[in-house]
Amino acid sequence: MNSLKKQLQGHVGFSNFPNQVHRKSVKKGFNFTLMVVGEAGIGKSTLINSMFETKIFPVKEETSSDVVKGVEITSMSADIQDNGIKLRLTVVDTPGFGDYINNDNSWQPILENIESRFDAFLAQENRVIRSKVNDNRIDALIYFIKPTGHALRAIDIEFMKRLHTKVNLIPIISKSDTLTRDELTAFKARILADINYHGIQIFKPTIDTFDDPETMSETKEILSRIPFAVIGSEETIARSDGIMVRGRRYPWGIIEVDNDKHNDFSRLRKMLIFSHMEDLKDYTDTVLYENHRTQKLLSMGHVQDNSVFREFNPAAHMEEERRIHETKMQKMEAEMNAVFQQKVMEKEAKLKQSEEELYARHKEMKLALEKQRRELEDKKKHLETTMRPVTPMDKKQKKGLFNLS
Ligand code: GTP
Ligand code: MG
Repeated sequence: MNSLKKQLQGHVGFSNFPNQVHRKSVKKGFNFTLMVVGEAGIGKSTLINSMFETKIFPVKEETSSDVVKGVEITSMSADIQDNGIKLRLTVVDTPGFGDYINNDNSWQPILENIESRFDAFLAQENRVIRSKVNDNRIDALIYFIKPTGHALRAIDIEFMKRLHTKVNLIPIISKSDTLTRDELTAFKARILADINYHGIQIFKPTIDTFDDPETMSETKEILSRIPFAVIGSEETIARSDGIMVRGRRYPWGIIEVDNDKHNDFSRLRKMLIFSHMEDLKDYTDTVLYENHRTQKLLSMGHVQDNSVFREFNPAAHMEEERRIHETKMQKMEAEMNAVFQQKVMEKEAKLKQSEEELYARHKEMKLALEKQRRELEDKKKHLETTMRPVTPMDKKQKKGLFNLS
């Protein structure tokens, strides 16, 4: 990247900022970074030089046959003074865009460049000591549409779709002097329809209900001109009334760069460096950059989370707890079952034992009874065999025997 600083004088317009915005801007360092994208020879350098009344970029001849290898990104800075207020303007040029047979990835180096500027700013924000913050973020991107008069080309759509969430997109139709008024009107309508259809977000100033009527009508005027159809020229030519103007001369007359009725250049210029420079900067800072930062942090956090997640994920944690608890319960149940089984077996053994004991006792008793019965029977037999009729002797004896007392 080459950077060229230029000290310029001339009335640009930003010193007319409302005071509040002014002070804020001065404090912030008041710089504005603009990127221009469009194929070779489409009029980028001419437009930038016309806009800032300077020769920031060298304008090539129409016949120039420079061989550009890939998209080159160069930047030039200029310190512009306007009524004592200094603006550091940086214009980032992207020669080589769309110069190939296969332009499928032309948007890529540009997207990468814009994102790396965000990342560089983020790195500075994250630093503990923030003595000097360099803000090189792109505040607006002017996308040059070829004045074909038909519709947006695939490369235009692809580019805008890839970039619209990263930068304030300002599509413009360059070299609009090559189209008639009617052709331009139809072309603009077609471009807006395509932009709408593809859900592409372009920068559009908003009408604030608190705005004064003049601001409101100015904003409406800007809105009505989108996409701006511009012409650029570094030539100053004399009008028929003798007044010197910047413009392009044709056999039928002069097209004036700064004439509102001839093209949208002055509206675009006014929007960029007078009425909406702060809006562009604010939107870049608070929306586009913030979104990028959030995505970046999220993606970084996501990588870390994956490992941390398993340990601290409450759902997974609960599931793990439940699983441990279940295993514990199952183990307890098994233990209880084993104990129960053991007890049952012990009881059964005991019962069996007592049954056996009972049986043994029963058998014993049975045997004892049997024995007694047999003894009694023996006695009976014995008595029967020894029994004879009773004699008087026997009676006497018996008497004597039983009457002892
Ligand atoms: P690279 O730097 O090669 O990418 O080209 P560029 O996009 O910067 O184009 P540059 O401004 O160098 O212009 C290329 C040619 O187009 C020059 O001859 C300009 O005079 C001419 N040109 C620029 N703006 C206009 C315009 O509005 N209308 C017409 N008709 N020609 C223009
Ligand atoms: Mg150029």
